[in-house]
Amino acid sequence: MSIETVGVIGAGVMGAGVAQNLAQTGHRVVLLDLSDEILARARASIERDMRFQSLFKKGDGERPADVLARIEFTTDYTPLADADFVVENVTERWELKRGVYAELDEACPERCVFAANTSAISITRIGSATRRPDRVVGMHFMNPVPLKPTVEVIRGFHTSEETIQTSHRFLKGMGKEGIVVNDSPGFVSNRVLMLTVNEAVFLVQEQVASAEDVDRIFKTCFGHKMGPLETADLIGLDTILLSLDVLYESFNDSKYRPCTLLKKMVDAGLHGRKSGRGFYNYETHAPQPVGSRNGHGGELR
Ligand SMILES: NC(=O)c1ccc[n+]([C@@H]2O[C@H](COP(=O)([O-])OP(=O)(O)OC[C@H]3O[C@@H](n4cnc5c(N)ncnc54)[C@H](O)[C@@H]3O)[C@@H](O)[C@H]2O)c1
Repeated sequence: MSIETVGVIGAGVMGAGVAQNLAQTGHRVVLLDLSDEILARARASIERDMRFQSLFKKGDGERPADVLARIEFTTDYTPLADADFVVENVTERWELKRGVYAELDEACPERCVFAANTSAISITRIGSATRRPDRVVGMHFMNPVPLKPTVEVIRGFHTSEETIQTSHRFLKGMGKEGIVVNDSPGFVSNRVLMLTVNEAVFLVQEQVASAEDVDRIFKTCFGHKMGPLETADLIGLDTILLSLDVLYESFNDSKYRPCTLLKKMVDAGLHGRKSGRGFYNYETHAPQPVGSRNGHGGELR
């Protein structure tokens, strides 16, 4: 089966990145979200990212207009009738995702594979919301999608070997490689990362160190490219909180309880890069730590 038309559900941070990557690798994409306004924002963000890529000579030099012409922006499931593959990137809430899979099951042809780009929700659970659990797989893309070469691929309880092989082929067609793991909430990456980020927020809350110094320790002592709080801002603090909630609920283990400072920041609209402010302020020319002498706004505690 050749993979030509790909449905991308959710046009936020991840959905826009997946759609861009697919269109840049020659796929026809149907990008679906709840409103035209959200879709217009996704379109603008893809265009901006491609101009940025061409500035740094990262893309293949194709004009943004030609890449965008391969993406159909829609709020309607009908164009998914000939989708060969779907990547779902909807907000990390089970009630929302479950409803989306019911719609997809109706709209997509039987052969179509559903790949869930979730941070923590069990792929077996997602498969159970469809009539095709053997054709449901986890595909945990990394952010920013067009720049990250590796994807965590999650095998749900009923995921077939054929679906795993199709997934490898699909990722190769996007210029990526998959690492297959078995299903467990948070998989490998976010079982570790979400706890690390949460503990880093506790350190800031307890005033053990500033956000900037926590990150500097990871970068200069451990050689990480980014510190945990910079990573949290990139992912989105709302998504981090939702993922911790999923892990807490899935394992019934208090080690996943979200730090109150994280909840406070999400309530205050500090969602990280996408909202302009999180642990750092992105509204200034160069990101400034929030609450530092150079930063703007409230203290982090
Ligand atoms: N942000 C990251 O770094 C990252 C990395 C890997 C995986 N993920 C996962 O990817 C998924 C999306 O995350 P994101 O960061 O793009 O979030 P986001 O908040 O930027 O985007 C989510 C999008 O889903 C849309 N949506 C919500 N309900 C919908 C529905 N019923 N139908 C269609 N669209 C709907 C929203 O309108 C929004 O545009 C989440 O499950 C998240 O856990 C995120």
